[in-house]
Order: sequence, then structure tokens, then C-alpha cells
Amino acid sequence: MLPTNRNRPQPRASRSWSFSEMDFSDPKRKPRLLSKILMGTFLTAMCIVMLIQSPCHSSPSVFSIHEPGVTHVLVTGGAGYIGSHAALRLLKDSYRVTIVDNLSRGNIGAIKALQNLFPEPGRLQFIYADLGDAKTVNRIFAENAFDAVMHFAAVAYVGESTLEPLRYYHNITSNTLVVLEAMAAHGVKTLIYSSTCATYGEPEKMPITEETPQVPINPYGKAKKMAEDIILDFSTRSNMAVMILRYFNVIGSDPEGRFGEAPRPELREHGRISGACFDAALGIIPGLKVKGTDYETPDGTCIRDYIDVTDLVDAHVKALDKAEPGKVGIYNVGTGKGRSVKEFVEACKKATGVDIKVDYFPRRPGDYAEVYSDPTKIKRELNWTAQRTDLLESLQTAWRWQKSHRSGYGPPLAMVL
Ligand SMILES: *[C@@H]1O[C@H](CO)[C@@H](O)[C@H](O)[C@H]1NC(C)=O
Ligand SMILES: *[C@@H]1O[C@H](CO)[C@@H](O)[C@H](O)[C@H]1NC(C)=O
Ligand SMILES: *[C@@H]1O[C@H](CO)[C@@H](O)[C@H](O)[C@H]1NC(C)=O
Repeated sequence: MLPTNRNRPQPRASRSWSFSEMDFSDPKRKPRLLSKILMGTFLTAMCIVMLIQSPCHSSPSVFSIHEPGVTHVLVTGGAGYIGSHAALRLLKDSYRVTIVDNLSRGNIGAIKALQNLFPEPGRLQFIYADLGDAKTVNRIFAENAFDAVMHFAAVAYVGESTLEPLRYYHNITSNTLVVLEAMAAHGVKTLIYSSTCATYGEPEKMPITEETPQVPINPYGKAKKMAEDIILDFSTRSNMAVMILRYFNVIGSDPEGRFGEAPRPELREHGRISGACFDAALGIIPGLKVKGTDYETPDGTCIRDYIDVTDLVDAHVKALDKAEPGKVGIYNVGTGKGRSVKEFVEACKKATGVDIKVDYFPRRPGDYAEVYSDPTKIKRELNWTAQRTDLLESLQTAWRWQKSHRSGYGPPLAMVL
């Protein structure tokens, strides 16, 4: 299991993009220790089983051959929240998909669910591997005929990034370099890169356009910005087709209820506002703390731009479709509409049917009032607009999954969590 920061003092991540304006009191965690150990053991066992069953050693497979009319996409981080939704969409659209994930943040349960939905040979392949391991990554590229890469794999908590910056530079910047080198070495010509609005830092003007200067203020945003720079520099000297998507605040889950967001329990405290709302509704944490009610916004709380994961993966497919050799496209992916924290909390209460306890506190220094995207460019160039802009609906969908998967993708054993 990954080391946790639970016993360390938690310096507050000031100015976080992922809703540190909202956090929650530390729940009593001790009684969960045993269940966590049990779950850890179970996951380890599952991983070993997967490794043994993994098709990656059965040579030569259809995955190693370019087939006319079939686009084979490498989805890094495909066991994670956004990656698994993207893999689902690609498979539904008849792409061939290889997922590389080492399950350090992703869930083997998401892979299983995908395999159950797409069991036909040649559709989906899962390779358990670490993107930090250049030799292994090279071997994967040598043994597989990828047409494109969607690079999702990363660590993604602003707060954690301020506590463990090296983890972020290593797993975001350095791993992206490894992927790019392998793509170059093996002639894979299309890259769709997951970036973030955190690369903009604290812009003075809203909404944020793609021309807004990038001045990230935390290691997460900086690591992503560095990865973008590496990609852009390389793209000027190569014929690669590159699409960089800068996500705003991602929420929601598969409308059919098969996939959801399931962070490791020990990472909950770094989590997003929706995770905190659901945890509060489930009684895992006592309630929500909203920091700052006197911003210059209509209701005094901070405003953010929430994008549904189904819309987000749609942007990826459109980007892949429109990617052109030698060209770079950079796009904000947001709704263009800001929602206040109060609105979000009310929607969450309504979606869960739980009267979540909310405590209001003074502003935290450094949090800024409003952040939202200008999605004009992506509409104009990729014909993409957010369709699922009803916050309540997105939260209802996500809540249905959360309620029926209290232990994430985990085994019933972990139900005691
Ligand atoms: C997974 O990958 C990360 C990123 O490179 C690596 O640092 C970590 O040790 C790996 N974890 C496991 C469980 O293999
Ligand atoms: C990230 O990188 C660090 C090395 O700085 C490593 O110890 C860690 O396991 C990596 N993986 C994840 C998921 O953080
Ligand atoms: C743009 O998307 C809409 C629906 O999302 C579709 O009806 C329309 O045909 C598309 N336009 C072009 C030019 O592809």
C-alpha cells in the first residue's frame, strides 16, 4: 500500500484548484485499520491473479498487428476514474484498447468490469506495468501496434502535491517523458494528453481561455505544465499529432452505473468536493467545511466549473478524431459556466437525500473567488460542447454508484469500511 500522510501534520494546500476551499473534519480512522489490511491483502491477491491471467505474454496477438480500419489506443491509467470511463467509451466506439496501469491509484475492479463488457478477443488488453519503468514501457511499445496514446496515468491531488512534490514531478513529468520517448522510438504518431486548469494558476481575468498565461502555483499544476512543455517542444521537431486537454473540475460517472470514482480510502482526505459530499452523505465523515462565505460572488462562496466525466471523455474521442500529424491542439474542457460551492452542496444534498451537515468558516488565505472556462475554442474546432450541464443529474448519477459501491470496486469484505 502507498504511504499515507495521515499522521503528519497536514499543511493546508492553499489556493487549490480541486476544492480545498471545502474540506472536512478528520474522521475517527482507527477502527478501519483492520478492514484496510484485509482489503490490501485482497487487492494484492487479485493483482497476482491478474498477472497470471494477463494476456500480455501470449505472443503474437492481434494487439501486435496494425489492422486496417481498426484504431488501437493505448490508455495509460485506464483503471482510474477518468481513464476507465475513456476506455469504456473507446470500446463502445469499436476502438481496440490496451490499458497500462500499475494499480497504484486505479482499481482492478474497473478493469474487470471492462473485461466483462467487452470479452471478445482483440478488443481489450490489460497490461500491469509501471510507466516509470522505461525498459518495460519500451517493451510494451515494441510488442504492441498502437495507433494513438491517451495518457491519463498520473497522481492528481493538489494538496498531496504540496506535501510530496517529488512524487508529482516523477509520476507526472518524468513518466510523460518516458511515454513520449517510447512513442518516438516506435513511431506512434498521435497523443491525447490529460492536462488541467491548474496549469493556469491564478489568472486575473475570467473566463480562462487557452491564451490565459500559465503560471501554476502548486507542484501538481507545475508538473503538468512541464509535461505540456516537453510535449510541445518535441512536437515542433516531429510529425506527431498532439491534443492537450485542460480539464476543469471533473464530476459524475457512467450513466449506466457500471463505473464510478473510487479513490483509495487513505486518499479520501485529499479528495474532491463530490467525494467529500458523498462521504458525508454516507456518514464516513461528519460533514463538510466550507471556507469563505464573503467572496464577491452572488452567494459569497467560491465558484468553479464542473465538467461531467461523460462529456470529458467525449472531448477525448473528438480530439482523437480531429488530431492531425504535425499539429497541436490545446483545449479547455469545461462547461463555461461557474457554480458556487453553496449551489454544489445544495445539489449534493438533493442528489443524496441526506441533509449533510455543513459548517461555514472564514476564507482561507489564497483561495480565489471564481474559476471557469471559456469553451469557445473546443466548440469551434472540435464541435464539442458540454451536454450534461445539470449539476444535480451528474451528482445523482455519481451517487447511485457510490451508494451501491460503498467499498468502491472492492470486495464485499471491505463493506465494513
Ligand atoms: C506504480 O507506478 C508508480 C509510478 O511510476 C511507481 O512509482 C509505483 O511504485 C508503482 N506501484 C506499484 C504498486 O507498482
Ligand atoms: C511516484 O513517484 C515516487 C517517487 O518519487 C514513488 O515513490 C511513488 O510510488 C510513485 N507512484 C505514485 C502512484 O505515487
Ligand atoms: C456537431 O455536433 C452536433 C451534435 O453534437 C451534430 O449534430 C453536428 O452535425 C456536428 N457538426 C459537424 C460540422 O460535425
